[in-house]
Amino acid sequence: MADTFEYKRFSDENNYIKLCAEVMAVRARGDKPMACIRTYGCQQNVADSEKIKGMLSGMGFGFTEEAEDADFILFNTCAVREHAEDRVFGNVGALKNIKRRHPSVTIGLCGCMMEQKHVTERLYKSFPFVNLVFGTHSLHHFPELFYNTITYGGRVYETGVDDKTVVEGIPTRRDGEFKGWLPIMYGCNNFCTYCIVPYTRGRERSRKFEDVINEARQMIESGYKEITLLGQNVNSYGKNLEEKHTFAELLSKIDKIDGDYILRFMTSHPKDCSKELIDVIASSRHISTHLHLPFQSGSDRVLKAMNRSYNREKYLDIINYAKEKIPNVSLTSDVIVGFPGETYEEFLETVSLVKEVEFTSLFTFIYSPREGTPAAKMDDPFTAEEKSKWFSELLKVQEEIAAKRCASMVGQTVRVLVEGAASKEGVLTSRTSGNIIVDFEGDDSLIGKFVNVEVTQARNWILKGKLAD
Ligand code: SAH
Ligand code: SF4
Ligand code: F3S
Repeated sequence: MADTFEYKRFSDENNYIKLCAEVMAVRARGDKPMACIRTYGCQQNVADSEKIKGMLSGMGFGFTEEAEDADFILFNTCAVREHAEDRVFGNVGALKNIKRRHPSVTIGLCGCMMEQKHVTERLYKSFPFVNLVFGTHSLHHFPELFYNTITYGGRVYETGVDDKTVVEGIPTRRDGEFKGWLPIMYGCNNFCTYCIVPYTRGRERSRKFEDVINEARQMIESGYKEITLLGQNVNSYGKNLEEKHTFAELLSKIDKIDGDYILRFMTSHPKDCSKELIDVIASSRHISTHLHLPFQSGSDRVLKAMNRSYNREKYLDIINYAKEKIPNVSLTSDVIVGFPGETYEEFLETVSLVKEVEFTSLFTFIYSPREGTPAAKMDDPFTAEEKSKWFSELLKVQEEIAAKRCASMVGQTVRVLVEGAASKEGVLTSRTSGNIIVDFEGDDSLIGKFVNVEVTQARNWILKGKLAD
């Protein structure tokens, strides 16, 4: 039987926000309480941090990048690869000295790592100065948990909750003024054999159709120029909803909202990426011409061992359909090198797929074993040195493709959203619909606006241009 989920409003927690504000007004070291929030991992975590910042704003907090100046330090963690975890443990260790200098500071950890038992056990044993630990399912309880932490004085841990809820109305304080994330669903049901995400984020559950559309409308009305719909597998949006809706329907409904904006989405899964979706993109007014479609491996045997539920042929079939229907479609992907048992010959199938598709850019990862996943128990006969050699080989192939693709854009005039100042004075940085960066000389007043830019030069995967209007 399919999972059933409860849809709730956040209002129960508002009282705790008030109570926290009262305590923190007295407890703050400066004029007002300050929080330092560090976010690791993917956009889902960034969106969660924006909700935590929304709740903290309600408690009267301001925000700082400096841990030293904060009354509350929170790391929102990622568990997807070992490297991400090591960084967190290293950085948490360094907080011990801050706690020594400022005993009143509250130190918290949340996010995906906190949904792994071995992690929280290690934290409890070795990091007693960490006051608050909560997992991804406890996000909407944050005000109550924070209140308990600041009033109780001991350690508050809430993890491993089998939460089957979707909570609407959590206040959000978005980092960007004109670019914003919009989660449309949570969790993942795919259980790719290498991946920890289904264990840390729980079962896939979609927000209601109208809730997503209303939030998109509010964002557009309040001046957002770029909205990115988020989910681990956006193509399976709507499957758990009573009133059935597909992702293609959701996109096309948002696209009908009038305004000057670009609509992006991630991540698509090739097994659920329908031709209907490509048709919606092709005929839309606002949807970007960028498709991020992770293939992970070019070998059918490896894809099967990864439990990806598609093969090379099906992947290329969607890619070719997208190339045919969306003029100048820009394709990007994620790839794993060195999955347990992957041979050099199988790796070469990945290289040949990369050459065939000609991606704009690739996110390449060396396989990292994750405790509790099926792949972590598979035989892994190849050494880290061998995998790293293959990895470099793949990067070199992709660099040449990206450079060629960018060079082919010289002379074209492209519409871009100006994102901000580049590191060089007087230069702005912007992004095309296909998600390619273009730097050009211009005035800061253009930031947050769409302009046309003529591409004059290509430098690997970054373009240079001049204002065309
Ligand atoms: N839901 C998205 C991606 C989530 S994780 C999707 O399915 O595409 C982002 C990327 O991290 C994955 O696409 C994969 O390439 C990589 N990744 C996940 N687990 C990994 C692991 N154990 N080792 C190396 N890379 C991994
Ligand atoms: Fe992980 Fe696969 Fe789910 Fe993506 S689809 S989050 S790779 S299990
Ligand atoms: Fe990391 Fe969790 Fe995202 S493991 S990649 S932060 S869903």
